[in-house]
Amino acid sequence: MEIRLVTCSAALLLVAACAWSTAHAQDAAYVRGMAATCTNCHGTDGRSVGTLPGLAGVDKAYMVQQMQDFKNGRRPATIMHQLAKGYTDEQIEQMAAYFAAQKK
Ligand code: HEC
Repeated sequence: MEIRLVTCSAALLLVAACAWSTAHAQDAAYVRGMAATCTNCHGTDGRSVGTLPGLAGVDKAYMVQQMQDFKNGRRPATIMHQLAKGYTDEQIEQMAAYFAAQKK
């Protein structure tokens, strides 16, 4: 019984480690997943169909600047100031590069 428990937790740890390393090894998939959280509001792949500004094809430097401004409160917002705080500078760079590469 005890041995089975140990084997089982070892297996679980392995699965967790694999999931972690896969996410980081496949950077593209990782960034795509992160960017997907923006698309609920900003449209699939950032192509907005509503009133919100689209993100697809937006200049990378511009988007990084907006996100930083939201993050430190320079740009007033209803939602984005909260969201922007959840991302590191590196993640913001990665998402901006991703959206800049999407067709409008
Ligand atoms: C819950 C809905 C929602 C989600 C999710 C969301 N946004 Fe926004 N976004 C907004 C709203 C609303 C605005 C307009 C500013 C405001 O009031 O917050 C905005 C504005 C922006 C702007 C400024 C666009 C411009 O041209 O001025 C950028 C850049 C942006 N969002 C990026 C992102 C990124 C990157 C993500 C994913 C991490 C994201 N947004 C997720 C609602 C959302």
